[in-house]
Amino acid sequence: DKGAYPYYMLKEIDEQPGVMRTLIKHYIAEDGTIKIDDDILQSLHQSDRIYIVAAGTSYHAGLVGKELLEKIAKIPTEVHVASEFGYNPPLLSAKPFFIFLTQSGETADSRQVLAQVNEQGYQSLTITNVENSTLSREATYTLLLYAGPEIAVASTKAYTGQIALEAILAKSLGELRHIEAAADFDVAKELTKVANGEQELVDEKKEIEKIAAALLPTTRNAFYIGRSIDYDIVQEAALKLKEVSYIQTEGFASGELKHGTISLIEKGTPVLAVITDKNTAKHTRSNAQEVMARGANVVFIASRSLANDSDQIVLPDVHPLLTPLVAIVPCQLMAYYASLQRGYDVDKPRNLAKSVTVE
Ligand code: F6R
Repeated sequence: DKGAYPYYMLKEIDEQPGVMRTLIKHYIAEDGTIKIDDDILQSLHQSDRIYIVAAGTSYHAGLVGKELLEKIAKIPTEVHVASEFGYNPPLLSAKPFFIFLTQSGETADSRQVLAQVNEQGYQSLTITNVENSTLSREATYTLLLYAGPEIAVASTKAYTGQIALEAILAKSLGELRHIEAAADFDVAKELTKVANGEQELVDEKKEIEKIAAALLPTTRNAFYIGRSIDYDIVQEAALKLKEVSYIQTEGFASGELKHGTISLIEKGTPVLAVITDKNTAKHTRSNAQEVMARGANVVFIASRSLANDSDQIVLPDVHPLLTPLVAIVPCQLMAYYASLQRGYDVDKPRNLAKSVTVE
């Protein structure tokens, strides 16, 4: 039931701070101990490489998972699109461990990969929102998102839920492996900060509605740009915008634009620059200057500590590996308002189904 909300997508965007708090409650005890089955952690610990397999938005959550697992738990991690992995798998390491990220637990492309993984006798973990779903039943282990049903076709709270759970998993695995970065990562505190930050952002949705109305009502195309973890964010931000507003949108590595794609920039092309990574902030700003010089309409979405006075959207500061959890909120709202302003049914974009059960 969407209650007082006009659309499920808006309700589910607003639910994200609550999803953070629920995950903390389910997975982290008062004393900070993480409640993840020891079998899962041991199995991950014994592997020499993690393969994350997923589709669409869940794949984008996997990109951030790689950052968390490599930086906090120090396990090499690869992220693969399920439909690609299925028929052209990479050369596997000696002791692979598979993580399937899937809101629905029913995505056919991911199921097909899991069937192969099972045939080869490898261990796997499904992170899903749906208890007893196919991918949950067929994997060795399951961790649930507890995000509540996601009804809008465009995935929102599952993305942030998946990243938060990956952070909790990386913390507990890193502790088991005696990794210093894990000891320094107070995941409950950091995710609480995220929840508060997300709340601040959903409370400012009117601002985003105005920016969308000024930037996106008639354009045919748009770009999101960013580097490093901000490149992960902009790929999801672009998917969100294109799928509900039908504006052709690319999420691009800022530094790569000048190697060809910058030829698409015209007078008035919307470019949304996401800046949460301290090491690349300067570089993305100078890439933004390059497109401004060619007439682009640039909107900056920047973390408070990296923001300039003229930046249109300012994000609360959170842990550097968790910035996708706050940065995606205004991007989801941007997609939502652009869709409504252009007169579409934001919960049911054309040509799409909530769960994709064909390969
Ligand atoms: C985008 C979206 C899709 C799904 C993808 C995977 O908003 O919803 O890209 O993320 O189809 O679905 P799950 O996570 O159910 O496997």
